[in-house]
Amino acid sequence: MTLIDGKKIAAEIRAEIAAGAAAFRERTGRAPGLAVVLAGENPASVSYVTAKERACAEAGIRSFPVRLPADVPQETLLAEVARLDVDPEVDGILVQLPLPKGLDEQAVIRAIAPEKDVDGFHPVSLGRLLVGLDTFVPCTPAGIVELLLRSGVDPAGKHAVVVGRSNIVGKPLAALLSRKGRGGNATVTLCHTATPDLGAFTREADILVVAAGRPGTVGAGMVKPGAVVIDVGVNRVPDATKPRGYRLVGDVDHEAVDPVASLVTPVPGGVGPMTITMLLANTLKAARARA
Ligand SMILES: NC(=O)c1ccc[n+]([C@@H]2O[C@H](COP(=O)([O-])OP(=O)(O)OC[C@H]3O[C@@H](n4cnc5c(N)ncnc54)[C@H](OP(=O)(O)O)[C@@H]3O)[C@@H](O)[C@H]2O)c1
Repeated sequence: MTLIDGKKIAAEIRAEIAAGAAAFRERTGRAPGLAVVLAGENPASVSYVTAKERACAEAGIRSFPVRLPADVPQETLLAEVARLDVDPEVDGILVQLPLPKGLDEQAVIRAIAPEKDVDGFHPVSLGRLLVGLDTFVPCTPAGIVELLLRSGVDPAGKHAVVVGRSNIVGKPLAALLSRKGRGGNATVTLCHTATPDLGAFTREADILVVAAGRPGTVGAGMVKPGAVVIDVGVNRVPDATKPRGYRLVGDVDHEAVDPVASLVTPVPGGVGPMTITMLLANTLKAARARA
């Protein structure tokens, strides 16, 4: 088994993006801009947002932080998004999910101008993806396909099994892997909690992507020898030996699965760095399209 080094691959792509951002700044006199909206102080969200803003700075992308309290009224949040929609310095708008209870996530996503929808969650973006038009592809699925290609794994002709059908990972990934074109042309099976005997499906996978949000979703005897395993899960499990009192684990039981697989993404250091990288790529794409 070989580990796929998401950090290294992400760093290569980020260098390409930084060069693109510098050229954009040279041509237009301003840096590409990303608004980062965070409501509340959910610890995981705070750490994601911090990492995204740091990555922007390193790539020469200007971030516009917007911090709102957890009890922000829906109308105030929508008004913030509407303001960013027309701000000429802002090329992309990211609203960190999940939103605090009581806020209507889908309504906020729909308020983002599709040309600034760098997360790719707007129904227009997802619809364009489904019909094969150029669009902002959601960052985690886009990062997974890029990770596969740059690791020498072309999904074309392979059987890809995706565990999880969320709007941000599983469903758009299934669309990407099955579309006609680069990084696509796989035969895709999409599994979820109503799938009986999950292992019967995962054992058929040449490429297995697990995005279930539950540690140990895929374990011993569930992976075909030689399969490529992409572990998307990020779960905090209590660990008194760690300074923060927890450690991060994926959705795959790596002790059982890694010896059987050919290529595996670790957690952390696999898919995560690619997600942020694709956000930077989408922001640069938005800036170029708007300039
Ligand atoms: N590394 C990154 O950059 C990144 C980015 C995004 C998400 N993540 C992580 O990826 C995981 C998934 O995220 P998400 O937002 O897609 O989660 P989500 O919205 O909670 O969706 C989880 C999906 O997995 C399915 N599922 C859960 N347990 C299952 C099981 N035992 N067997 C089969 N299907 C199962 C659910 O099925 P039902 O639809 O039937 O409920 C659902 O479709 C989380 O750990 C999240 O933190 C990581």
